[in-house]
Amino acid sequence: MLLEQFEYHLIEMRLAHADKRCIWHPYTQMEDWKKWDNRVIVGGKGFYLIDNEGRRYLDGIASMWCNVWGHGKNEIVSKMSEQLRTLQHSTLFGLASAPSITLAEKLLKFSRGMQSVFYSDNGSTAVEVAMKMAVQYWRNKSRPKKTHFIALEHGYHGDTLGAMSLGYIAKYFRAYKPILTKVYRAPSPWDKSPSAKSKANIVNTCIEQTERIIMKYGYGCAALVIESGAQIAGGGIIYEKGYQRKISDLCKKHDLLLIVDEVATGFGRLGNMIEYLAQRSTPDIVCFGKALTGGYSPLAVTLTTAEIYNAFLGNYSENKQFYHGHTFTGHPIACAAAIANLDLYKRHNLLQKIRENSHYLGRRLEEVSRSPIVSSLRHKGLLAAFELHNNKKPINYMKNKEPIQYFIMRESMKMGVFLRSLANTMIVIPPLAIPRRDLRTLLDVQLRLLQKIEQDSK
Ligand SMILES: Cc1ncc(COP(=O)(O)O)c(C=O)c1O
Repeated sequence: MLLEQFEYHLIEMRLAHADKRCIWHPYTQMEDWKKWDNRVIVGGKGFYLIDNEGRRYLDGIASMWCNVWGHGKNEIVSKMSEQLRTLQHSTLFGLASAPSITLAEKLLKFSRGMQSVFYSDNGSTAVEVAMKMAVQYWRNKSRPKKTHFIALEHGYHGDTLGAMSLGYIAKYFRAYKPILTKVYRAPSPWDKSPSAKSKANIVNTCIEQTERIIMKYGYGCAALVIESGAQIAGGGIIYEKGYQRKISDLCKKHDLLLIVDEVATGFGRLGNMIEYLAQRSTPDIVCFGKALTGGYSPLAVTLTTAEIYNAFLGNYSENKQFYHGHTFTGHPIACAAAIANLDLYKRHNLLQKIRENSHYLGRRLEEVSRSPIVSSLRHKGLLAAFELHNNKKPINYMKNKEPIQYFIMRESMKMGVFLRSLANTMIVIPPLAIPRRDLRTLLDVQLRLLQKIEQDSK
């Protein structure tokens, strides 16, 4: 037995070594990565990830914001395996496939106002699809000059070319600017510490400025694009009530399509199944991804209204059809995962559980807010964000010059939780069905981390 364990350990050490030799990790300075004692995740059980040495880490960021039920959820795994035995993959180019139809019907049932579903593989491509649809919609309507976009400051929509153009974060995307498409920027409804009085002002000022931009440039634009309910990667900015509805009204008034990106906020993150409905906005095109499959398989969808869909109908020779598709469009196994996931939402009344945990999170955040290095705390559903500051200056580095996000990852893992920050912005974004005891652990670790950062910054 001991010998077996030793061999296992050697195999896993070899894996860690091979990772450093072969893998290029996303958003990672590989020079640093090569120096770290990295963990290789070899398993997942419940809400925990298990590394090559058998250590367990609470999946504190929901595997990049997509995990719902933790790992190994029987109902999803067995539906995926069943599908795997029945049909592994069959294309949607010229053929239909059963799971994609069942899932589309389910999605349209609760996405009021939408009429058709276009499949892709991830959030970024769902956004690319939305952009292409918007531009071609106007072309098909004989208004081919509407080709640009309006999007928000601090927005993020993914890493493909169109998505980067929309969600332009200079630090990330400066190098690619020469190949990005034209996007006009409207202000984000962002005030770090709004007083009750200024909250209404933020919405009104933002809407006024956005309308000015629309009046100036909207004629040449196909659509205005916003994240639904909150901007997450751009800093965990939660919209004030009424903002998204007013943006939606502006688009209608000025003949612009509204594309709503619910990739990160749909399916419960902010306490609502469908955020655009909760916001009382009426988009023309909506993107979902991440939690759609419970985080078990890559899949995304772009939903459109009948008005958009119908504009692509016509005689073949008119060339109005939508020229987009991927090898794995509507992948049966991913669709089976999504169907099982959505059934579980209903069976477990997940939205109610999210709301209860959201109250608990709110109470624990009061403790967080007492830390002298924490400012601008905001929270909705199972999303919270706050800034780390020392003497009003952002804490981007520890005293030894280590970037704070490295410190947070390393130290949280030592305490048995995997957490990541966006530089000095701490985002709390756990798996959506996280049990109370694990949420408690996550917040306990968060508080201990804050103490460590505070000590370092003295
Ligand atoms: C709002 C939003 N849109 C799109 C994306 C891109 O999704 P993906 O990483 O699956 O391409 C993300 C990813 O974080 C996101 O937060």
